[in-house]
Amino acid sequence: MAKNPRSPKTSKASKAATSVAGDPPDIDIGISGADRASIAEGLNRLLADTFTLYLTTHNFHWNVTGPLFNTLHTMFMEQYTELWNAVDPIAERIRALGHPAAGSFAAYGKLASLPDAPGTPPKAEQMIRTLVAGHEGVARTARALFERTEKADDQPTADLLTQRLDIHEKTAWMLRSLLQA
Ligand SMILES: [Fe+2]
Repeated sequence: MAKNPRSPKTSKASKAATSVAGDPPDIDIGISGADRASIAEGLNRLLADTFTLYLTTHNFHWNVTGPLFNTLHTMFMEQYTELWNAVDPIAERIRALGHPAAGSFAAYGKLASLPDAPGTPPKAEQMIRTLVAGHEGVARTARALFERTEKADDQPTADLLTQRLDIHEKTAWMLRSLLQA
């Protein structure tokens, strides 16, 4: 392989590049360390609930049966896609606040308020009831965190929570409507 004449073995530039790594400055965004920790803890609960509901909804997309198969199979796909897209902004807000984002089944099992998906696929109507309860549960988790974000002047997290509340409450209404005669 030809040597790249522009890449000497040791240069001032490469020394400078390695010296950039070290202790980064403290986060100084106008939210105290204690508030950032408290909000990140609540966001990790929201992340765990959102991921759990994502997985349950995808499970039901795979396993739904009955006369409403087409409707529910498609509706569940739209819902799990929305939930899948939601986990990333929640996790990245936790990182921006300076904390690790939970990302394992073990962590989610401890943090989530929602139960794991049922081991045996239930009937379609029970799937809808489970998802109504799931969306309402995630809404409660998001709402429980809201006051902390307002007190800490954490507008980006409050905005994120507002968007998630809107989606979960709307989806719970749509699912609930399927159960009404
Ligand atoms: Fe599919």
